[in-house]
Amino acid sequence: MKKYNIALLAGDGTGKEVTDEAVKVLKAVGEKYSIEFDFEPALIGGCAYDVYKTPLPDVTLDLAKKSDAVLLGAVGDWKYDNLPPEVRPEKALLGIRKGLNLFANLRPASVYPELTQLSPLKEEVVASTDIMIVRELTGDVYFGTPKGIEIKEGQKFGFNNMCYFESEIKRIAHTAFKVASQRNNKLCSVDKANVLDVSRLWRETVIEVSKEYPNVELTHMYVDNAAMQLIRAPKQFDVILTGNIFGDILSDEASMLSGSLGLLPSASLSDSKYAMYEPIHGSAPDLKGQNVVNPIATILSAAMMLKYSFNLDSAHDDIVNAVRKTLKLGYRTKDIAQAGMEIIGTSEMGNVIKDNVLHP
Ligand code: IPM
Ligand code: MG
Repeated sequence: MKKYNIALLAGDGTGKEVTDEAVKVLKAVGEKYSIEFDFEPALIGGCAYDVYKTPLPDVTLDLAKKSDAVLLGAVGDWKYDNLPPEVRPEKALLGIRKGLNLFANLRPASVYPELTQLSPLKEEVVASTDIMIVRELTGDVYFGTPKGIEIKEGQKFGFNNMCYFESEIKRIAHTAFKVASQRNNKLCSVDKANVLDVSRLWRETVIEVSKEYPNVELTHMYVDNAAMQLIRAPKQFDVILTGNIFGDILSDEASMLSGSLGLLPSASLSDSKYAMYEPIHGSAPDLKGQNVVNPIATILSAAMMLKYSFNLDSAHDDIVNAVRKTLKLGYRTKDIAQAGMEIIGTSEMGNVIKDNVLHP
């Protein structure tokens, strides 16, 4: 029997509740395809700080490196808000991304036909939107130096450095062109080349790489315009390629096309076998232990793992179809329920999706 080792990093807040459901669904898929998934848990984020005084202990990073893939819940809790920046839970996320060289972050924003009314935008604007945001994840102003807060000219001065090497732009551009080739062959690169030098290099480099992908239609958009176009006419986009911070912002914005942060998965990939899968939402510590959060984003992240790490495309499709069937049948967690609909809990949602995987 084929066996995969998965590092299970539930993290803080409701992270464990959502990863529990994804594990359930992966096990069901395993049953169906005779694959064994072996889950090894480790601490990350605030819970790791409590034990090891660091949010990303070596044991966790080592486990991630020796596993076939990482499934992450979420990190962060108000409890840790006053910790020094270097040991805050969010640092663990940045650390594991860098540590595993996960430079390519795929964030799909698809609108399910069953849920078009959920979006705060008009149904006709969002219906059948299907966008893939390809966000660079290990560079940009997130990691650039120099950075800090100093005294300058007699007052406090805070600074970060937005910067990219050409090689970093090239490799993420290749990822985006490949993703676009497997979709509708349209790629929109988002930058701020009218103002920023780093964006001028970004644009030049993306144009250079585009020569290797003559079938993909490349366009460029300034990030402010892209933010506007995303809600004005989202259907114009197929794949969006952008840097770390613009991608952070645009992917949260795009999640509102689908109506809930609780629906959107993500994959973070390297050029080796290292890969990590996590929902794009946070840890929602205020909802912890209440069995109310939506596990769909994490379950769909597990589906992305099957596709991108293990090439199990049909198992991936089984999970996506099970989620769609579940929604079609009217099962809703609180965040996606509309007036008059019956609400089920986190674990019940996982159970229904698991059953729909086993009995499509
Ligand atoms: C995300 C998050 C993280 C980011 C934070 C928690 C560090 O917002 O994954 O989008 O900014 O990348
Ligand atoms: Mg974000």
